[in-house]
Amino acid sequence: MNEEAISELILNAFEARTKSYCPYSGYAVGAALLTESGQVFMGCNVENSSYGATICAERCAALKAVSEGERSFKAIAIVGAPRDAKEVSDYAYPCGICRQFLSEFGGSDMTVIVAKSIDDRKVFSLGELLPEAFSSESMK
Ligand code: THU
Repeated sequence: MNEEAISELILNAFEARTKSYCPYSGYAVGAALLTESGQVFMGCNVENSSYGATICAERCAALKAVSEGERSFKAIAIVGAPRDAKEVSDYAYPCGICRQFLSEFGGSDMTVIVAKSIDDRKVFSLGELLPEAFSSESMK
């Protein structure tokens, strides 16, 4: 992925974060998922009074993509910070469930970008964040 495409995806993640529904944690997360076909799907965390029913931003974006027929993921950008924070002061790494969920449609080559701003970002492969992933191959 070129630098410009990464910046664009981060911008989309920031926009997605504005939609976060996080009345319980107060922690707002946005994600922008790029599919191999070039489409971008945005997602935010959607919390629930039954806390365990909460959906993370990454899975929100992934579900939107898959439910629209997109099953091949190229990259995801993630931004997270307390809802009212003026700046994003930490990288928001995807949780374990989201790493596993993304690996179903992205595989180890998928790009995972965590960002504090357009310029302050880290880029990983999903394989780096989820080594020895469980997959359909594991069951053969
Ligand atoms: N959250 C995400 O959206 N993505 C992650 O990878 C980790 C956590 C959300 C879930 C919950 O709404 C809030 O952050 C605090 O855990």
